[in-house]
Formats: sequence, structure tokens, C-alpha cells
Amino acid sequence: TQKVIAIDGPSASGKGTIASRVAAALGFDYLDSGALYRLTALYAEKQGVEWDDEAGVAALAQALPAVFESGKTFLAGEDVSEAIRTEAIGMGASTVAQLPAVRAALLQRQRDFLTEKGLVGDGRDMGSVIFPNALLKIFLTASAQVRAERRAKQLGLPCEGVAFERILADIEARDEVDSRRAVAPLVQLPDAELLDTSAMGIEETVKKVLDWYRK
Ligand code: C5P
Repeated sequence: TQKVIAIDGPSASGKGTIASRVAAALGFDYLDSGALYRLTALYAEKQGVEWDDEAGVAALAQALPAVFESGKTFLAGEDVSEAIRTEAIGMGASTVAQLPAVRAALLQRQRDFLTEKGLVGDGRDMGSVIFPNALLKIFLTASAQVRAERRAKQLGLPCEGVAFERILADIEARDEVDSRRAVAPLVQLPDAELLDTSAMGIEETVKKVLDWYRK
């Protein structure tokens, strides 16, 4: 087995928060694999390459000048920590993530995050493709309504009204694309623990993961 905790789940399920806290608790490194797809989408946009140009985007992904340092994300030296978090780039990430050549270009880069320290990886295919021999696999989810509410709060928006309905629709659209695509679709693996956090807080969720790990 690999010294990896693989946390997969739909958008806005809290994977980033949970995965980074579990990593900190165990002294493991943390891989935010979605950031690589977001960076690829942003890089393509900056370079004037269309998101559906498979060869063009894959070439950019292969040579992605990305650096993760003290909680910040840099692209070609520029701090893009906030620029990669928009819904538009989320959709772009979801678009480029459907291209097999792009996924192939990012495969080894993700595996290289694993050292003897151990790794917590979050994404859609951590347990299925990147680290199939992970010592613990988790399918982290929550209802679309709850995920949209968390996203709205993050953005300082009310949990009702036109803006909220758009957040909810964006989340559902991205889940649909990520679950139905041909390559590395988001699925709940038979060997993954199901963790539905619709009615759970952060501390409780982190504790649950650590309990499974220590078992
Ligand atoms: O998790 P996050 O919202 O940052 O991911 C952005 C997009 O990147 C997802 O909607 C998904 O399409 C893609 N992705 C992926 N495989 C991963 C991580 C993210 O396809 N391991």
C-alpha cells in the first residue's frame, strides 16, 4: 500500500479544508489536485489556447510552471491563489479535465507529491487512478444544497436569491460533467469509505478521517 489518504468527492464538498487539516494532523504533505487542473485552465486562457484544444492544452499542462509555496499558488512567478478560485476557472478546469492527454500530462506530477512523509490527496481520481493503492480512500460528499450554502457563505452571499441559485446551478453542472465524463469520472469506489458531511462540522469530519486512518 501507498502512504496516502485519497479523498475524492464533488465540488465544494470541503475536500480542501478536510484534506489539509488531516495532512497537518499527521505530518503528511497535501496535494490539491484540482489546483493543477485550475492552473492548466488559467494558463491556457493566458496563452490564448482554447480549453477544448487537447494537444495545445496538454502541452501547457506538461510544462505547467506552477509552484506551491507556503499556502500560495504561483503560475510563472505570479501569485494566482485567488485567480484560480473563480467559478469560471472551475468550469474551465472541468473542461480541460475531460481531455485524456491533459490528464496524462498531469499524472506523474501528482504522483511525485508522495514522499516518505506520506500524502493526503484531494480530487476526483485520487483513489481510482493516481494512488490506487492508497491506505485509506474516502468519498467525501454533501448534498448540493449544503455545498452551495457553504460556497455562498465563503463568498459572503445570502443562501437564497438569484446569486445563490446560480451558485447551486454551477455546482450541479460541474458535478454532472465530472461524473459523466469518459476518463476518470468521479465515482464512489467500492473500497472507499463514504463520508457525507451534510450535517457534520469540520472538526467532526477531520476526526472521523483520523479514526479510520488509525484503525
Ligand atoms: O476540486 P476542484 O473544484 O478544485 O477541481 C476543479 C475541477 O478539476 C473539477 O471540477 C474536475 O473537473 C477537475 N479535477 C479532476 N480530477 C481531479 C481534480 C480535479 O478532474 N483529481
